[in-house]
Amino acid sequence: MSNYHIKHLEEYYQVYRKSVREPENFWEEIAEEHFMWQRKWDNVLSWDFSKPEVKWFEGAQLNITENCIDRHLSTRGDKTAILFEPNDPKEAAEHITYNQLHERVNQFANVLKDQGIKKGDRVCIYLPMIPELAISVLACARIGAIHSVVFAGFSATALSTRINDSDCKMVLTSDGSYRGAKTIDLKGIVDEALESCDGVKSVLVAKRINSDIQMKSGRDKWLQPLLENASKACEAEVMDAEDPLFILYTSGSTGKPKGMVHTSAGYMVHTAYTFKNVFQYRENDVYWCTADIGWITGHSYIVYGPLANGATTVMFEGVPSYPDFGRFWEIVEKHKINQFYTAPTAIRALAKEGLELIEKHDLSSLKVLGSVGEPINEEAWHWYNDNVGKKKSPIVDTWWQTETGGIMITPIPFVTPTKPTYATLPFIGIQPALMDENGKELKGNQVEGRLCIKFPWPSMARTIWGNHQRYKETYFSAYENKYFTGDGALRDEVGYYRITGRVDDVIIVSGHNLGTAPIEDAINEHPAVAESAIVGFPHDVKGNALYGYVILKDTGESRDHNNLRKEINQIITEHIGPIAKLDKIQFTSGLPKTRSGKIMRRILRKIAHKDTSNLGDTSTLLNPEVVQEIMDNVL
Ligand code: WT7
Repeated sequence: MSNYHIKHLEEYYQVYRKSVREPENFWEEIAEEHFMWQRKWDNVLSWDFSKPEVKWFEGAQLNITENCIDRHLSTRGDKTAILFEPNDPKEAAEHITYNQLHERVNQFANVLKDQGIKKGDRVCIYLPMIPELAISVLACARIGAIHSVVFAGFSATALSTRINDSDCKMVLTSDGSYRGAKTIDLKGIVDEALESCDGVKSVLVAKRINSDIQMKSGRDKWLQPLLENASKACEAEVMDAEDPLFILYTSGSTGKPKGMVHTSAGYMVHTAYTFKNVFQYRENDVYWCTADIGWITGHSYIVYGPLANGATTVMFEGVPSYPDFGRFWEIVEKHKINQFYTAPTAIRALAKEGLELIEKHDLSSLKVLGSVGEPINEEAWHWYNDNVGKKKSPIVDTWWQTETGGIMITPIPFVTPTKPTYATLPFIGIQPALMDENGKELKGNQVEGRLCIKFPWPSMARTIWGNHQRYKETYFSAYENKYFTGDGALRDEVGYYRITGRVDDVIIVSGHNLGTAPIEDAINEHPAVAESAIVGFPHDVKGNALYGYVILKDTGESRDHNNLRKEINQIITEHIGPIAKLDKIQFTSGLPKTRSGKIMRRILRKIAHKDTSNLGDTSTLLNPEVVQEIMDNVL
């Protein structure tokens, strides 16, 4: 018997040790006993981080949708699989049972096939949080098409870059979306994006807000009539273990987004196994993750992980502030949520509002609280623990990444004693390492360094779409034979991990991973801008906010700085999306640079943090005089 469900701390340590000593035996047992395979593997694991190449369950064949849907039908056919809660609380919630999900995924899969989509084709999904989003993800997986979900808050430019990078043939979207009191013209954004995407032959449009939109003949079709006419049966495509399941973009240190490629078998095993344990999911629980399926959290812990366990997973279309800041708590009460998984930025925003918004609602169904996306500060942790969990629901602070596919460092609730701001212990099978500046591993406890992982885990991304070299350089070149996460971390006296934040050019704003380079590229598009540099600075709700230093071109004429600030944020919104807007923009005559021309972001960061006590030696800079000017004008 494998230890699929960990129930106490002794068991955790025992299973963890086994997973490290005999990883292949360990994962083989989990895979064997808890999943449905069309063919078993020949080899559990082969790996070489120097290439890098990692293969799990090679030779196995499966379809993840049979694991997420078909195998539950005999025992859970009438159980709610997806519980859809609309933006407007007056609109009825929709309970989609496993039987219904089966039919709807099959119908959608048949529509995709009718439109010419085949195994291996890339389909871009640009949909709001409506059932069609989850269903289309599963429909792609059903026929072996590779889905590339783009968060429906991204701009037309960001969307077209992603469509072109992975050569998507088709785009799935809706006429528009609801977001609190606002509606968003999604189809208009798609139309604009597709002006520069020649490879897209068809666009299927779900009706959601009944807006008056343009349908381009020959390209655009309404989805619902096609679905109604499609057969409810669709055999699942046979997938090899290492066939790509999806691409999901994340930002990095250059302007081009990285299309992380996840494959089928290992991703399924790891997301399912972590879901079961990290949320201690029991058969009749109602689980709610507030993320959007446009991010990895939604892929792994709204769709695949929960459904692979036959769970009831809530999909919420709206925002925490509409109609008021009590909306989350109203939903918890209404659907008797047992596990609630959200982000520190949401917790901080809600903590600013009065407690009466919570006290109005019965939250006694809650058993486990989760946090993900950025470090959770002590104050937010206690607020969450005291007021939402009433000090009886453990908080699982889960550290992981788009690249890791699933949760990596986390408490197991009721098993691992929690500690505020600590992600605590590595999950089963995960082998973290902390590295010093010289590339040496820091052994023992009470050390702080750069967080790496030294052994493969099943759900790790296998490559960057179309650019394996970049995958190698970004993740496997900083430290030999190790995956480098980009985060700093410390290990305390009992071996608990605390993630201290990014050590690279990525800034986490409201839980969104933003590379500085794409934002700087966007700003530099402004005709008045010569150069720019972005850093993060602390913000009480967003965690970090963006601070931009901008050099204007010398045109001889003076320009209104406030107008320029608006224009710069407008360009950022057009190129990336409103999430990347700058909170502060300081105009400057220069940026501190090394003799080789590299911007010294460390100095800019300190100034933006208003911490100029220890700027270090600035005399070796190319232009030391600019530092004083920047300090004098800091916003
Ligand atoms: C980065 C990954 C994992 C899904 C959401 C974000 C930061 C994530 C935590 C946490 C401290 C965290 C890291 C990581 N991060 N979770 N519990 N504590 N930091 O996925 O967009 O790929 O971002 O988010 O810096 O590297 P992502």
